[in-house]
Amino acid sequence: MMSLLRRFRPQNLAPEVPNGARLAPAWDFHCHLLPAVDDGLRSLEETRAAIAGLSTLGYRGAVLTPHIYPGVYDNTSDRLRDAFQALRQEIEAGFTLHLAAEYFADAALFRAIEQDDILYLKLGNQKIVLVEFPTMMPNPAGMDVLLQLRRAGYQPVLAHVERYRYVQLEQSLWLPRLERSGAWLQCDIGSLVGQYGPHPQAFARALLDQELPTLWGTDLHRVAQLERYVAPGLAVLTKSGHRINAALEALAA
Ligand SMILES: [Fe+2]
Repeated sequence: MMSLLRRFRPQNLAPEVPNGARLAPAWDFHCHLLPAVDDGLRSLEETRAAIAGLSTLGYRGAVLTPHIYPGVYDNTSDRLRDAFQALRQEIEAGFTLHLAAEYFADAALFRAIEQDDILYLKLGNQKIVLVEFPTMMPNPAGMDVLLQLRRAGYQPVLAHVERYRYVQLEQSLWLPRLERSGAWLQCDIGSLVGQYGPHPQAFARALLDQELPTLWGTDLHRVAQLERYVAPGLAVLTKSGHRINAALEALAA
């Protein structure tokens, strides 16, 4: 771990940030900064290094989205709230953290909706919930989860839509279907520069051109990803000229 931290220094990002210009949107939506609860950052030390790097890129805060994935990451909302409160005590003012979660779309999520036990981001009157689908094969419950969330008064966000193989292959089927569901689309910034290979890269760039993603996230799991993927991905986003994560501007108020 120490070698990783030593290798990454916020100033390593400097060449990617011309004349100190702010590349990043104010808020990151979708990251695994909450330490040691999933496959994300592993310690408070790593989380501090990640926050320093995000700040250098221009972020002023982040919405933390630890995995809730029964059988893989058995996190409960209570446990995550406790871990979040503990983290907040340790992080200096100047970088604002919110807690939500990244839910895997399965039967357990239907139960959580019924039990009113959902970790969401409060955004004005909206309750924003991040949901991920399986990568390779569509999950029969997936679309129903999005619809059920809408019926229960939430605004679902589909995580990293560019990474689902079946959506890449059948865009004309899936994109209208997702639009009808009312879910917002989120893409990972690193996808724009090949973090997940050529297919997600091409799809993320096409989605950006069409201005279809409502939100962009770092989906940060390791500090080194900031320098390798997030900084160059942000440069692509900035060049696009689109306003990024404008939907979250209410958070800054
Ligand atoms: Fe994630």
